[in-house]
Amino acid sequence: MNTAQFIPEILTENIEKANFTWQTPSNIALVKYWGKSNPQMPKNASISFTLNNCHTITTIAFSKIERTAEVKFDLFFEGKEKEEFKPKIAEFFKRVQEYCPYIFNYKMTINSENSFPHSSGIASSASGLSAIAMCLMSLENELNPSITQEFINKKASFLARLGSGSASRSIEGPLVVWGNHPEIAESSDLFGVQFPYKVHSVFKNYQDAILLVDKGEKVVSSTVGHNLMHNHPYAESRFTQANDNLGKISEILQNGDLEAFVSLVESEALTLHAMMMTSNPYFILMKPNTLEIINKIWKYRAENKSNICFTLDAGANVHVLYPENEKDSVNNFIENELANYCQNKQFIYDSVGFGAKKI
Ligand code: PMV
Repeated sequence: MNTAQFIPEILTENIEKANFTWQTPSNIALVKYWGKSNPQMPKNASISFTLNNCHTITTIAFSKIERTAEVKFDLFFEGKEKEEFKPKIAEFFKRVQEYCPYIFNYKMTINSENSFPHSSGIASSASGLSAIAMCLMSLENELNPSITQEFINKKASFLARLGSGSASRSIEGPLVVWGNHPEIAESSDLFGVQFPYKVHSVFKNYQDAILLVDKGEKVVSSTVGHNLMHNHPYAESRFTQANDNLGKISEILQNGDLEAFVSLVESEALTLHAMMMTSNPYFILMKPNTLEIINKIWKYRAENKSNICFTLDAGANVHVLYPENEKDSVNNFIENELANYCQNKQFIYDSVGFGAKKI
């Protein structure tokens, strides 16, 4: 694995102060990543839709200081200092310091906000860490103006991955593959790459409505969940299945076979949760309303000859996926029926997006 490419050689410029703001999105996996080895290396390749509306906006103000032994930063979330978020970010800086040695030369003031409600059960680590990674790369670009945009995106994804695996898929869009796969050119365990083939027009502006079933803290974090894939009785066959599914979805995305898309995506979601239920110790993240919604979606699909389907991430919320030409009818269905199964009837309309934006 060529990680040396991410260790900067000569940083030519001397920058005293700099300020960068990035908006980076959340993403939803179609083929799931569940199981990893150190340092954040996936056990199988995964692919996600980049989202458009669910994002984090982060500003980092860098000001030069005497080089210190410890990374210095303050952290504000939605305008308030957040001591409790600091250990996770400090751990992230520790993991990237070898690749971003310049962070020891600056005091960083980080200001962050999410477009989605706090504690909505929507994982903010993908958008949050990719935003910090983009701010670091903006500084690196000022220190070394010779780096290319392609390198910036690749390294930002590499850095984000070290914070949270799925964050590696939040730099670009509309479809990103992370994990080495024989059928995906240039794919790597180290960073995400844009899906390299022409995608069928039916997937253009694909819709994702996120139904907020349960906004509470997850009973088992994804870090713990990933670790339970070590010694899991079905781990090896799951990793093989996921890689096979990635090959299949690559074809589907190119040929536009929505029926095949629906069955692959739903099977992936249920398999992810089946892995949780067959871990030792076992756990369940779905809630009764998650299942109510799934059953309603199946009924609606059968009755309306629709291509609606669902996916899940590591939680109880349901992502409802559907093509743009079904937007009016499915949105009615969500508002009139599915919203009743959401906490405080809350849901978020989103669609496929194109990745990080400098603000
Ligand atoms: O990036 P992590 O460590 O939070 O893991 C995310 C795993 C899933 O969201 C369940 C699946 C995925 O591929 O995003």
